[in-house]
Amino acid sequence: MNIQEIIAKKRDSKQLDKNEIEYFVREYTNGEITDYHAAALIMAICINGMTEEEIANLTISMANSGEKLDLSKISENVVDKHSTGGVGDKITLILMPIIASIGIPVAKMSGRGLGITGGTIDKLKSIPGYNTDLSVSQFIENVQNIGISLIGQTENIVPADKKIYALRDAIACTKSIPLIASSIMSKKIASGANKIVLDVTVGSGAFMKTKQEAESLARCMNKIGKMVDKETVSIITNMDEPLGYAIGNNLEVKEAIDCLRGHIPEDVKEIVETMGAYMIYLSGYNKNINENIEMVREAIYSRKAFNKFLELVENQGGDISYIKDPSKFEKSKFVIPILSEETGYVKRIDAEIVGSVSRYLGAGRVNKEDDIDYTAGILLNKKSGDYVEVGEALAYINTNDEAKTKGALINLVKAFEITNRKVSKNKTVIEILTK
Ligand code: URA
Repeated sequence: MNIQEIIAKKRDSKQLDKNEIEYFVREYTNGEITDYHAAALIMAICINGMTEEEIANLTISMANSGEKLDLSKISENVVDKHSTGGVGDKITLILMPIIASIGIPVAKMSGRGLGITGGTIDKLKSIPGYNTDLSVSQFIENVQNIGISLIGQTENIVPADKKIYALRDAIACTKSIPLIASSIMSKKIASGANKIVLDVTVGSGAFMKTKQEAESLARCMNKIGKMVDKETVSIITNMDEPLGYAIGNNLEVKEAIDCLRGHIPEDVKEIVETMGAYMIYLSGYNKNINENIEMVREAIYSRKAFNKFLELVENQGGDISYIKDPSKFEKSKFVIPILSEETGYVKRIDAEIVGSVSRYLGAGRVNKEDDIDYTAGILLNKKSGDYVEVGEALAYINTNDEAKTKGALINLVKAFEITNRKVSKNKTVIEILTK
């Protein structure tokens, strides 16, 4: 087989066969195919797309590129969730303890932040002592013992994705339905769950900018799930505005703790309840979605989910005094308000701008080896629909780098659109695709 011929086929919009896709994934992962050949093929895929059959073959080849977990010791039905990426997305931190507190096992591997979107692993690492790097056997043992474990992806899970993702990032090919779908679904297949709930985000802070694109991505991933016998439900959610009020690692952990104590912003609540209800449904625990939503609420208001989060943090070496008293979390040296120059209603808070300012302040990485400042980020004081007066704080920037405060304030103000007309809040859950 010859990589030039494979590139030429895709350049000419022809369909690659299973052997050609397997060859590319295997040899690129092994280092036998160069980055420049792989870059040419990835760019051709990004421009010309792939058929359903090609996407399924790419996903399966990627899932087979490394270790595949067997979670059957935990339960015959392990449900996982994944988001296609967002700003202020702390859903995993809230939802997974809820699900575990109901008695449904949670074995979840999460990723680091990508671009302007945050990663659950970085958030968990902001809890002093919390260990995200457990062995697979320890991970499974934790789930057997307390019903939940949240760790980072091990080195051996889908090594092909690690290489292809880094390459896509470097050559401006992150936004591609076949490449996003295969990246996400290969990791879900390899990490062992057999039922999957996906949060497919749409809007300025998401990869998919239109509802139509998000629907195509959702349908594509549901189909891959069906082909590999992993029932998948995709929930399309609005990512035009950051989720909740906090953006940045320990700021989001603190907000997640608040949510688990019952103080949960409307947009976060909508996603937690919907995803939770479908996770309970897919696990086989209960098939009635409305009853499942009630179960999610009860887990929060009874504090069962909060107690499960404490148990999780303690079991993974984290200092639970921070969870009991979040004011103990370290704060940035510079916490500066951004003041409204107008009186009116907040019409829009651009998630893309907020995400990139937050990353600039130190909450995310520009290069993959960069360190993160766990205290850095943005705390919103207003959400869309809220009334604001001149001189009132719209948000607070948090950073340890004084040199960045001026630029951050200048850019962040552009994220807010104020109008003199009353603004009605949009729903966050836009559509649920069960097929
Ligand atoms: N999340 C992933 O894991 N992969 C992508 O390509 C995009 C979002």
